Amino acid sequence: MKRICLLVFAASLPLASLRAQSDEALPILVQVLQSTDDAQVQLDILKGLADGLKGRRGVKAPAGWDTLAAKLATSSNAQVKELVQQLSLVFGSASALADTRKQMLDSKAPSAQRLAAIEALVAAKDATLAGPLRQLLKEPALRGAALRGLANYDDPKTPAAIIELLPSLDPAARRDAFGTLASRVSFARVLVGALAAGQFAAKDLPADLVRQLRNHQQADLNAALDKHWGTARESSADRQAEMGRYKALLAKAAAMKEDQAKGRAVFAKTCGQCHQLYGVGGKVGPDITGSNRADLDYLLHNILDPNAEIPNDYRTWNLDTKDDRSISGVMARQDATAVTIITPNETLTIARSDIAKLKQSELSMMPEGLLQALPEDEVRNLIAYLRGKEQVPLP
Ligand code: HEC
Repeated sequence: MKRICLLVFAASLPLASLRAQSDEALPILVQVLQSTDDAQVQLDILKGLADGLKGRRGVKAPAGWDTLAAKLATSSNAQVKELVQQLSLVFGSASALADTRKQMLDSKAPSAQRLAAIEALVAAKDATLAGPLRQLLKEPALRGAALRGLANYDDPKTPAAIIELLPSLDPAARRDAFGTLASRVSFARVLVGALAAGQFAAKDLPADLVRQLRNHQQADLNAALDKHWGTARESSADRQAEMGRYKALLAKAAAMKEDQAKGRAVFAKTCGQCHQLYGVGGKVGPDITGSNRADLDYLLHNILDPNAEIPNDYRTWNLDTKDDRSISGVMARQDATAVTIITPNETLTIARSDIAKLKQSELSMMPEGLLQALPEDEVRNLIAYLRGKEQVPLP
C-alpha cells in the first residue's frame, strides 16, 4: 500500500516543483526509487533530481542514498547509471569522484561517456580538474568540452595552453577557446596580448566576446581592443548612411545558388552560434526561419541596429561568479536556488550561492558591427542566403 502511494505521489509531482523543493523531497524520492524496478520510473525521478540540483554541490546525501546508488550502479540502463553517478558527485561522494575521473581519462571508453564525465566533474567543481582538462585538449572529440570546462578554473597555465592551440582549431572549438579566454580578467590579458602580437587575426574574435572583454572594465584591455580590433559604436546618422551603402551594394547582382551556399558558411561563422535557421544553430537569439527574411530592409535594420528595439527576453545578463568568472547571455530560467543562462557557447546553471553579481543590461545580446567585420563579397553571400526560401548545401 505504502509503495503504491509513494509511486502515485512521485508520478504526480511535476518535475519543475522538484527544483524548488528538492531538498525536502529528497528522502521521499529515495524511498520511491528503492521500491521500484521500473527503469522508466527510475529515469524520470533521477532526471528530476539531477535537474533540481543543477549547479549545486556539497548537498547532504539523503538517508539510504549509498545503498540505493550501489543497487542502481548495476542497472542495465546506461542513463540510469550516469545519472546516479552524477548525483553521487553532487552529494560529495569520494568514490564517485574517483570513478568519474577514471572514465574521463580512459582513452578506450566511448567519447559520449567521457564527455558526460567531464560535464559531471565540472558541475561538481572538482577542484583539481584544470590539469587533466588541459591534457584532454589534445583529443579532438573532447576538446570543446575541455575548453569550456577550463573557464571554471582560475589557473594561470590555462591561457597560454589555449592560445598555443588556436591555429589548429576548427571554428566551433575556436569559439569555445575564445569564450574561455574572455571569461576572466587574468585570461583576457593574455588573449588581448596575443591579439596585439598578431598571434591570431582580429576578425576571428567574435563581436559578442569583444563586448564581454570590454565588460571587464579594464582600461588597458579596452585601449588594446580599440587599437587592434576597432570600435563598433556609431551615431544614428552613421547608421543611416551605412544602411544606404549596404542597400546599394546588395541591389547590384541577383543571387546565385552558389552565393547562397557560401552565404551559409558565413552564417555558420557569424550568426549560427546564436540563431537557428532551418533547424540548425544556437538558441541565444530568436529562430529566424519564419521571420521576414526575404525583406532586405528588415534584415539590414535588424543586423545593423540590433539595439533599436530589444524584446526583454533578449537583453544581455551579465553574471560574475564569486571566483571571478564573467558570463554573458540570455536568461533561460531563474529561481531561488539557481539561474540558467544561455551563452553562444553553452547553457550554464549557476547556484545563487556562487554568484557575486547578476545584472541585466540595456543591450541586446546581438552585437553591433557584425557586417563591418566582413568583406563585401561575404556580406553579399550572407544576405543571399538569408533571403532564400530553403536550406542549401554548404560549399
Ligand atoms: C551573440 C548572439 C547573436 C549573434 C552573433 C547574432 N545575433 Fe541576431 N539576434 C540576437 C538576439 C539576442 C536577438 C533578439 C534581440 C534583438 O532584436 O536585438 C537577435 C535578433 C536578430 C534578428 C531579428 C529577429 C526577429 O525576431 O525579428 C535578426 C534578423 C537577426 N538577429 C539576424 C542575425 C544575423 C544575420 C546575424 C549574423 C550576421 C546575427 N543575427 C548574429 C543574437 C545574436
